[in-house]
Parts: sequence; structure tokens; C-alpha cells
Amino acid sequence: MTDAVFNPFDPAFRANPYPFYDALRERDPVHRSPLGFTVLTRYDDVARTLRGAEFARDIEAHITPRADDPRNARRERFRQRVEDGVAAKSILNLDPPDHTRLRRLVSQAFTPTSIERLRPRVQQLVDDILDTAQERGSMEVVEELAFPVPFQVISDMLNIPTDRSDDVREWSQVLTASLEPTVDEAGLDAAEAAGMQMAAYLTEIIEHRRQHLGDDLLSALIQVEEAGDRLSSVELRTFVTLLYVAGHETTVNLIGNGMLALLRHPDQMQRWAADPSLDATAIDELLRFDGPVQQTVRVPMVDVTYTALDGADIVVPKGQMVMTILGAASHDPEVFDRPNDLVLDRPNSNRHLGFAAGIHYCLGASLAKLEANVAITSLIRRFPEAQLAGDPGWRDRLTIRGVDHLPLTLT
Ligand code: HEM
Repeated sequence: MTDAVFNPFDPAFRANPYPFYDALRERDPVHRSPLGFTVLTRYDDVARTLRGAEFARDIEAHITPRADDPRNARRERFRQRVEDGVAAKSILNLDPPDHTRLRRLVSQAFTPTSIERLRPRVQQLVDDILDTAQERGSMEVVEELAFPVPFQVISDMLNIPTDRSDDVREWSQVLTASLEPTVDEAGLDAAEAAGMQMAAYLTEIIEHRRQHLGDDLLSALIQVEEAGDRLSSVELRTFVTLLYVAGHETTVNLIGNGMLALLRHPDQMQRWAADPSLDATAIDELLRFDGPVQQTVRVPMVDVTYTALDGADIVVPKGQMVMTILGAASHDPEVFDRPNDLVLDRPNSNRHLGFAAGIHYCLGASLAKLEANVAITSLIRRFPEAQLAGDPGWRDRLTIRGVDHLPLTLT
């Protein structure tokens, strides 16, 4: 029987966390981890935590740090840099009212209607990639499709050239690696260094764009800043960094994990290839089944109470971190019938928590779904006989989970 523990240091857990999530949800759904936080795996607990106004996302501001925590010096350094105006918290790490203000400024560009306008461009990109692959008869899905499409699209939106994609990809990977629960001091140092390199690169682009405004998202954000002095230069750069990283680091995994799930369920893949009416539910089901973002965190600003399996109260004190396991919530049998099966026409697949919930609900959700939909449906409709041409390789990551290698034969 799988142990009901949250142990990100266990390679078996990282390789396939779902049996561990099931064990936790069934036996210890409000799990007090020896790592110092509480791990939630039931849908209702996770949803309530993500939506609750009593929970903060600005961890640094609300956590009660242990006196012996080696991260205290780093926290203090960052706090000082924010105070000095040379660093800013990203939208993801802000609480209202700052969060509300930033989100309002940028949400216009990401409404479903604005995003739908990008469809022809996304389709063109995907078609060109598939043309090349067709001539060869094979394809490496991650390298050729899952990374380049979202990266090109977010670069187009911001009008940032793609000639340094290798550097940007490297910095992004180092930055997102620091979200892992297993990250050590060296990983945090590396993330700080990568963040500085990314900041220097984007600062140069932003300063140039100020002199050459155009019809792109970056110009729009610059103008928002200049019109009302509402987005400082540092806030602007921090936000553009998040968009740029989030714009591809996660969607690559939706396309990669999604394609792998389909290849492992060829009957479902064939059905979807033949039936476009499944488009409406299938991407949500892929997000539910094996989503790119597996967990996030909150800190309660007051003592909060959860209920243990035996009905007892479990109080999480104010200031103590709570980990919400999105991947576990999206497999809760209380909400999803036969949760460990892939069911592309599942009627409630859109209740998954793969984009979180509440005020931090993913800003790029419509964009990610559009890109994944076009990429996956175009691939499986053109190559319904596509097959795995070797073992897929997984990135050894828990927070942002994804395949990094997915070779296919196409005919
Ligand atoms: C399949 C792909 C994606 C997944 C699974 C995903 C997932 C998430 C999740 C779970 C959060 C909330 C985290 C939390 O509450 O702690 C989030 C927030 C966010 N995402 Fe995504 N994301 C994806 C793609 C994108 C894209 C393409 C963009 C932008 C181009 C984007 C931009 C953002 C931003 C800006 C936030 C912060 C929103 C806020 O704090 O108000 N994401 N995303």
C-alpha cells in the first residue's frame, strides 16, 4: 500500500505522485508534514483555501518564520530590495489591494475574446511545424511543437525577438526550479542569478520599446505605466518577466503531458481526432488528468480549521503555510467519477483546479487552452496513427510537472 506521506525527496513520488495523493486524500487529507506545512488533497479543502479571503498569497509578508530558518536572510534581502525600489513582488505574490490594481491593468489583453483573435496565428505556426514533421515522418513533440508554439506566441504578443530563446528557456527553467519543495540554497542562488540575467535582458528591451512604441502588449503596458503612473518600471519588468515565463513554461507541459496521455489511450485519441465536438471538454480533461501545475501555497492570516477524517478539528495557526495540491483535488472521487481514468467527454472536467481558483486564477488560461487545443487537435487529426517512438522522458519536477522528451513516429 502506498504510504500516506508527502515526501518530495522520494524519486517514486516525483515520478508519479498520483498514488501518493490518493493515499493522502483517503487516509490523511489534512496532513501535517514534518517539512513544516499542512498538505491538503481534498477538492473542497483546496478550493476553499484558494478562494478564501483569509488566505494570503504574499507568503513572505504573512508567514511566521522560524528563527532558525536559513531562508530568513534571503527574505530580508529581498524585502530590502523591494523597499529600495529595485525589485517588486510579482502579481502572483501580491494580495489585494495591490493584486486587484495590477490584475485590472492587464486583464484586458487576456479575455477569451482577445485571445480568440490569436487563433489564426497559432494555427499557422502549428501547421508549418506539422508540414516539416510530415516530410520527415517523425517528430520530437516537446522540442518541435510544445515549446516553440507557446514561446513564439507570447514573444509575438509582447513583440520580443526570439533569437535568444535558448537563454530565455534556460533562465526560465532555473527560475521555475526554485518553486520545487526540494529546492536548496544553491537552487535559490541559481534562481536569483537567472532572475538578474532575465531582468537585464528585458530591461534593455523595455527601454528600447519606450522610444519605439507599437501595437503590442509590452507597448500597452508601458503606456499604462506612463499615463497614470500606476505601474512602476520595476513592477512593469517584474510583470513582463512573469508573463514571459508563465507564457511558455507551463503550456509546454500541457501539450506534452496531454499528448502522452492520449498516446497511452489510443481509443480516446482516435475518438477525439474524429469528433471535433469533444474539443470543448477534452483540453479541460487533459488539465485535470495530468496538469502542468501540481501545487501552490497560501498562508492563513487568521487561525483556520479543517476537518480530519474522523471529524476532529485541525487548526492551522495564522502564519503557517498550507500547500494545496491541485493535482490531488482534480482527482478527488467526491467530485470526479472514476478520477484516474481519462474521459475526454467528462461532463464536469472544467471543474479541475489546474489553473487554481479565486483571485489568482490563471490569467493565461484562455491562451493556454487555445494553444494546446490547436496544437493537439491539429496533430492528432493529421496523424491519427501517431505512435510513441521510444520512452518519454520526464523532467524531475513536482511543482511544474512535465515530459521533456516525447518522440513520435507519425505514419
Ligand atoms: C497550461 C498552462 C498553464 C497552467 C496550468 C497555469 C497555471 C496557473 C496557476 C495554477 C496559477 C495560480 C497559482 C496560484 O494561485 O498560486 C496561475 C497564475 C498565473 N498564470 Fe498561469 N498557467 C498556465 C499558462 C499561463 C499562460 C500562457 C500565461 C500568460 C501568458 C499565464 C500567466 C499567469 C499569470 C500572470 C498568473 C498570476 C495571476 C494572478 O496572480 O492574478 N499562465 N497559472
